[in-house]
Amino acid sequence: MSSSGLSAVVVLAAGIGSRMASVTPKVLHQIGGRSLLGHVLAAAQPLRADQHLVVVGAGRELVTEHLAGIAPEAETVVQEDQLGSGHATALALEHVRAPGPVLILNGDVPLLTTDTLAELVATHSSAQAALTVLTARVDDAHGLGRILRDSTGAPVGIVEDRDAGPDQLGIDEVNAGAYIADGAALASALERLRTSNAQGEQYLTDAVALFVSDGNAVAAYMAADASDVLGCNDRFELAARGRTLNDRVLRRHMSAGVTIIDPATTWIDVAVEVGRDVRLLPGTQLHGSTSIAEGAILGPDTTLTDCVVGENAVVVRTHGVEAVIGPGASVGPYTYLRPGTRLGPTAKAGAFVEIKNADVGKGSKIPHLSYIGDATIGEHSNIGAATVFVNYDGIAKHRTTIGSHARTGADNMFVAPVSVGDGAYTAAGSVITEDVPPGAMGVSRARQRNIADWVRLQRPGTPAAEAARAAAAQEPDSGSRMSEQGGQEQA
Ligand code: UD1
Ligand code: MG
Repeated sequence: MSSSGLSAVVVLAAGIGSRMASVTPKVLHQIGGRSLLGHVLAAAQPLRADQHLVVVGAGRELVTEHLAGIAPEAETVVQEDQLGSGHATALALEHVRAPGPVLILNGDVPLLTTDTLAELVATHSSAQAALTVLTARVDDAHGLGRILRDSTGAPVGIVEDRDAGPDQLGIDEVNAGAYIADGAALASALERLRTSNAQGEQYLTDAVALFVSDGNAVAAYMAADASDVLGCNDRFELAARGRTLNDRVLRRHMSAGVTIIDPATTWIDVAVEVGRDVRLLPGTQLHGSTSIAEGAILGPDTTLTDCVVGENAVVVRTHGVEAVIGPGASVGPYTYLRPGTRLGPTAKAGAFVEIKNADVGKGSKIPHLSYIGDATIGEHSNIGAATVFVNYDGIAKHRTTIGSHARTGADNMFVAPVSVGDGAYTAAGSVITEDVPPGAMGVSRARQRNIADWVRLQRPGTPAAEAARAAAAQEPDSGSRMSEQGGQEQA
């Protein structure tokens, strides 16, 4: 027996969700980095029911594949034609192995919490009911099933919005789309569902009236917070539920000691971990399995997906995907960290720097305007401004290795495969195609020559010629000083 005594959780997820106007089945749309279906299963999972059944239909290949990734324990039940939520439930009940109470959940109610479901289960058993419905009082009941109660206040039925009379439309207590019922009694009621309603469907909601007429006790549990039970049927509701979920996630982090300067522009997926005293500046978005260690400062305008950020790192105006940013590292502004980037402790990736599949050692810096791809950089090395790691020959990618305490000049090309040894330097403007040994200076560029008096002879009468003449007049021996430096030629 499971801890909650449930023999099964059934999630109804076969509808296409036509109001979403999408090629993607409704339950696969995401908020907070998790599908609607994933949220429902996550809320139910701690109840530890004996079985988890998901009714799939529209787009069922996609839904089944998704389930294999997020809830491998879930069994799927195919509903070929979407004849209604009652029909879907009846199909699922055929697969429930043990007798006892079954929890039925709509697949499109993503804000349900485990606490609310546990209260529903508790009400069901304390009321000794055969069927208990989760309800809520809402400001706008449009589109939702209304709870009908008799003069004693006992629930006696649910009427769908489209089938409701004018008086019933005024009822503000609605069906949340979560029910717990004795499996056998529910199966018996569902056999008797009619389709004489506005949608010509077998409504699960009609089971309430059938239970009442069978003399089986029906109870209702009203959720304390209506926002937990709202469904998600179109893109407007998707955005609204996403906002509510995000508010919840931000509150959780703020309670745990995270500073969020602007909750309105900060978005954090449900699975993201954020340490104490992290400061999130406006426009920060943290997605997927991202984790941020204590004391880091992120933003403004930073989006990280599946990244790991170490303690006290500072990440400004950065787009990162599957990157590791070490403790005390500094990133940005305008930095693009692609998959496989690993910045060591106190390393720096500065303005207009793109890094992919590269290890950057402790204290090493790539301060400006560079592309680093397929590379290993040792510790405490400095990569000059405007450097490109030329990793692709048009057929294959190759690796560049830079040692520790190396200092590469500005505007270098490292044509991989190539390596620069520990303590080596390279000269500015070099195209490095051959390995530079440890401690050597790699230089690869044409020697400069100055053609003296070129402007006076070739551009006479121009402002440049006049400026040169004036400079020469002020420093009469400048010509001989230049020639001492070498490289001067007579025109
Ligand atoms: C349903 C309820 C309504 C309630 C609301 C709460 C019914 C008849 N109405 O309305 O009382 O207030 O949820 O959000 O149940 N599904 C199937 N197979 C089908 C039809 C639907 O699996 O043949 C699934 C859908 O994928 C969805 C769920 O059942 O997850 C509910 O269907 P939906 O069309 O969203 O019903 P609502 O109009 O929202
Ligand atoms: Mg719905």
